[in-house]
Amino acid sequence: MSRFSGQVALVTGGGSGIGRVIARRLAAEGAAVAVADIDPATARDAAAEITGSGGTARAWPVDVTDPGAVAAAAAAAAAEFGTVGLLVNNAAVASDTRFEEVALPDWEREVGVALTGAFLCSRAVLPGMLASRRGAIVNIGSVNALASFGNEPYSAAKAGLASLTRSLAVRYGRGGVRVNLVVAGTIRTPAWNHRLDRDPGLLERVSKWYPLGRTGLPDDVANAVLFLASDDAAWITGTELRVDGGLLAGNLPMMLDIHGQDWLPPAGGREGC
Ligand SMILES: NC(=O)c1ccc[n+]([C@@H]2O[C@H](COP(=O)([O-])OP(=O)(O)OC[C@H]3O[C@@H](n4cnc5c(N)ncnc54)[C@H](O)[C@@H]3O)[C@@H](O)[C@H]2O)c1
Repeated sequence: MSRFSGQVALVTGGGSGIGRVIARRLAAEGAAVAVADIDPATARDAAAEITGSGGTARAWPVDVTDPGAVAAAAAAAAAEFGTVGLLVNNAAVASDTRFEEVALPDWEREVGVALTGAFLCSRAVLPGMLASRRGAIVNIGSVNALASFGNEPYSAAKAGLASLTRSLAVRYGRGGVRVNLVVAGTIRTPAWNHRLDRDPGLLERVSKWYPLGRTGLPDDVANAVLFLASDDAAWITGTELRVDGGLLAGNLPMMLDIHGQDWLPPAGGREGC
């Protein structure tokens, strides 16, 4: 299957976790991929992994909060591969600092990477998309934008990203550009390592909150991103696609507290597929 043959994709934060899987999957379906990540080593590794399996990719070490670096990386990717028609705004950072102890530079960093970075990257690639009258931007959001799960600066940034998604979708739809958001729940990536180092059973325990019985994998997010980036989603823009195992649909542990385990279907029907 080659849904993205001849297309050029730029994936921010493409060196690790979800971004890395998205970059690999886009390349596997024919896209030339610019792996843009602040960490040069992981960006290079991710690009090498793609080229090593016959795909086309190149690493661009870039801090998405740096306007000059973003513009230069987008221009370099376009010069090397052609017009960037797919942008995945995936880079983000989050800390577990208690809200009353969050320092202003930390607030600015979290909002800067997730929100300002998406602004800068979108601004950098939109002229090319509009000139070719074709483009798809997929923003990686979070359940944190829709309900409180801590990480206040990060959550506020993700809420801003949801707004930016709608604004750009409405403004640029007539120009052939679609803009959508994937609202991700807990996904096992290196971003969880610091918590798992302290508490290896954490994600198994967290699974009880998920109606589908497990936390997510990077491929769960990549499946949605590739759909939204593809022509299969040609009439979809400005939407928020929840990829959260049902987390935001209701409160399963509360229902089990009220009704007990028998409220669920018999064992065997309880696990997610
Ligand atoms: N893992 C989860 O549970 C989860 C849940 C919901 C949403 N998300 C979202 O998914 C996306 C990817 O998260 P992940 O878990 O794969 O994280 P990760 O930490 O594994 O990867 C993030 C990548 O972004 C890069 N990055 C950080 N700052 C950057 C900057 N200024 N410029 C360029 N690159 C930068 C990092 O170097 C890293 O490679 C993020 O937007 C995150 O908010 C993750």
